[in-house]
Amino acid sequence: MQKVGLIPGDGIGPEVIREARKAIDAVSEKRKLSLEFEEFPLGASHYLRTGETVSDEILARLEKKDAILLGAMGDPRVKPGILEKDVLLRLRFHFDQFVNLRPVKLFEGVPCPLVGDRRKIDMTFIRENTEDFYVGLGGRAKSGNSSFNLSLLRHAYEAKFDVGVDLKNEEELGFQIGVITRKGSRRVIDYAFQMAKRKGIDFVTSVDKANVLTDMYGIWREEMLEASTRHKMSCEHLYVDAVALYMVRSPERFKLLVTPNLFGDILTDLGAALQGGLGFAPSGNVNPGGVSMFEPVHGSAPDIAGKGLANPVGAILSASLMLDTLGHGEAAADLENAVRDVLREGKHKTPDIGGTTSTSKLGDAVAAKLKAI
Ligand code: NAI
Ligand code: MG
Repeated sequence: MQKVGLIPGDGIGPEVIREARKAIDAVSEKRKLSLEFEEFPLGASHYLRTGETVSDEILARLEKKDAILLGAMGDPRVKPGILEKDVLLRLRFHFDQFVNLRPVKLFEGVPCPLVGDRRKIDMTFIRENTEDFYVGLGGRAKSGNSSFNLSLLRHAYEAKFDVGVDLKNEEELGFQIGVITRKGSRRVIDYAFQMAKRKGIDFVTSVDKANVLTDMYGIWREEMLEASTRHKMSCEHLYVDAVALYMVRSPERFKLLVTPNLFGDILTDLGAALQGGLGFAPSGNVNPGGVSMFEPVHGSAPDIAGKGLANPVGAILSASLMLDTLGHGEAAADLENAVRDVLREGKHKTPDIGGTTSTSKLGDAVAAKLKAI
């Protein structure tokens, strides 16, 4: 028996999670999986009623789960950032989910903004999820104000080189420090090589900007080379700007990419565009030794909430990632294949790609396909 915590959340979150549940239930019956679900009503309504985002008691209960499946957070009634930061980021941090898993696959029947035959868009991004420019080290300093931040920055500058900024006389400046650690890069890079082996992929593409940001991405690159030797698998190093170009010009060349946090944030949104839009993009926040959390990439989409207009594919594919991570590779493949078949047949299309099928009708079609295959 494996235990799943369900957090449907806000806006279209509960609508798409309902469809993901239908698909999971159908495949569980077929593959005789025994999963037990417990729902956690976190999100705007809970916050407005109780003033609480996530309590320690809820965290303790989630700790006992094997995985978490989440819809989306965010509601116009709540100040932006509160739910997103205090729930989503808190969970990711609490469970040390250091891998952000983002498959980018374009299914037949789904429109792609690129011209020509783009059927071979099938790459997985493994994005480091805890370090880089997101560690929150930074500050602002004003002229004449010898704050701690400014002296820290001046110290850093003076120790290294003259950058031509007259710190004493600048009107105001902001700075942010990126941090990459050996341990932080090694663990996510190892995860990438292990996944490559598991998926029968024979090389890993590493993304960096080691030619300009030589210290932080230098460590990343060294760890990459070392891991390549350790795992006896080849790798390539590409600069982030080149990756952006290739993703548009020849996306079929990529299979599995591992990237530091900031570049991964940007490139995976480009990926979502290539795979047909936000409604199709799944993700996982993974801690291989702990509790991982799976969620569609999109937010709560208040503009379409409650109207049956949401595309549930991103949520269903997130459930597939969850099953795969829980060790149910065949069930995960069943879910993906059912989605693939429904999209390929083209009878059911949600409004985001010009169709009229409702959220629940698309979920029904996927569940029916699962029973048939
Ligand atoms: P959003 O992803 O919710 O929506 C962006 C646009 O895409 C909207 O026009 C929406 O209708 C459309 N869209 C999104 N998902 C769709 C789907 N499954 N089917 C069809 N159309 C879809 O991003 P937005 O509007 O910037 O944010 C809305 C709220 O969600 C905010 O509170 C934001 O902070 C939050 N948010 C939460 C995320 C999460 O829970 N992981 C991620 C992104 C935003
Ligand atoms: Mg993003």
